[in-house]
Amino acid sequence: MSASVSTTSVSPLTAVPSTIAAVDLAALTFNLRQARQRLPPGCEILAVVKADAYGHGALAITKALAQQGVARFGVATIQEGAELRDAGIQAHVLVMGALPPSQFADLLDYSLTPVIYDPALATDLAARLGTRPTPYPVHLKVDTGMGRLGLTSEQVLPLLQSPVFRGPLRLEGLMTHLADADNSDPAYTRTQIGRFQAILAQVKNAGLPVPLAHAANSAAILGHPAAHFNAARPGIMLYGYSTAPQGGPAVPLKPILALRSRIAQVRSLASGDSVSYNRSFIASRPSKVAVLPIGYADGYSRALSNRGQVLVQGRRCPVVGRVCMDMTLVDVTDLPTVRPGDDAVLIGRQGEEEILATDLAAWSGTIPYEVLCGIGPRVLRVYS
Ligand SMILES: Cc1ncc(COP(=O)(O)O)c(C=O)c1O
Repeated sequence: MSASVSTTSVSPLTAVPSTIAAVDLAALTFNLRQARQRLPPGCEILAVVKADAYGHGALAITKALAQQGVARFGVATIQEGAELRDAGIQAHVLVMGALPPSQFADLLDYSLTPVIYDPALATDLAARLGTRPTPYPVHLKVDTGMGRLGLTSEQVLPLLQSPVFRGPLRLEGLMTHLADADNSDPAYTRTQIGRFQAILAQVKNAGLPVPLAHAANSAAILGHPAAHFNAARPGIMLYGYSTAPQGGPAVPLKPILALRSRIAQVRSLASGDSVSYNRSFIASRPSKVAVLPIGYADGYSRALSNRGQVLVQGRRCPVVGRVCMDMTLVDVTDLPTVRPGDDAVLIGRQGEEEILATDLAAWSGTIPYEVLCGIGPRVLRVYS
């Protein structure tokens, strides 16, 4: 497959900019296969592409996964769902986040599937639907221990037996979300799964069909087979990062995104010279510093100041001084042949070395999700 640039850039550029996020769609397919191999036959994938597919570009990722047979996608907001529809995506799109009644019109116009997390939401949506000939599909979310959006266990059956589900609404899926599936202690996840199984049994015993039941995020796909049911919601593992509980089998996932830049300038410092705001780095020897055109406005966190590393000529070079809004400085003193225009890798492989989003997360005190989601819209996504 040849490389292509994101269609979201505002104007047609004649050259690829210095700082790009290169996304490997073959690696995405590989990771999808890893998820499928761990799920029971027939288990549907509901790929989580919210937050611009964790920063990878929701349109390209959704299209690539749809080509691989994925028929369901999860987003957080109506806006995210509408963007998929506007780009011609016809697959099922589940809106998993907050849904204010003021957005019902958009929900229906864009044929998005809501997650109902409050009985009042079902009543309001039913009233809005009026007397349509076909009931509107919805998923019910039950809170089994995440403590976030969701119906209580006691609310599920009465709601499904209420008039709103005898006309306006149709149950397409029953779901829950796991709070602790990446913990090496499985106890809490087992409790949540047990609660979900009990609710499922209650609904089925009442003679109500549940076409889809889903609970598993990536960690549960990898570490909790009891959470698999007949659909699963992988997110981070599709993008190549494992949150499998420690101690389980290693998972051969491939990170699909590389964050690259090119050196804009190489500067010489005398011993005692400082760089960047507030002079937080002062050279202790005659030094060379490479200026990279990427900063915290691009998602390269300011918390990486004097902590991060960048690959240049296959070697790990320390970030020196404060990361700026648009620029980052790297100590390349030990690389005498470095020139402007040379490649620098902030996430990804160069030579024998590799920097992962997990490394940036560790250096900056966060999780790889936030590192990936944080890569800003100014960074051009390039797909191959
Ligand atoms: C409701 C829901 N399901 C599934 C996922 C996917 O989780 P992960 O990326 O850990 O696989 C998320 C992500 O936060 C989520 O909010």
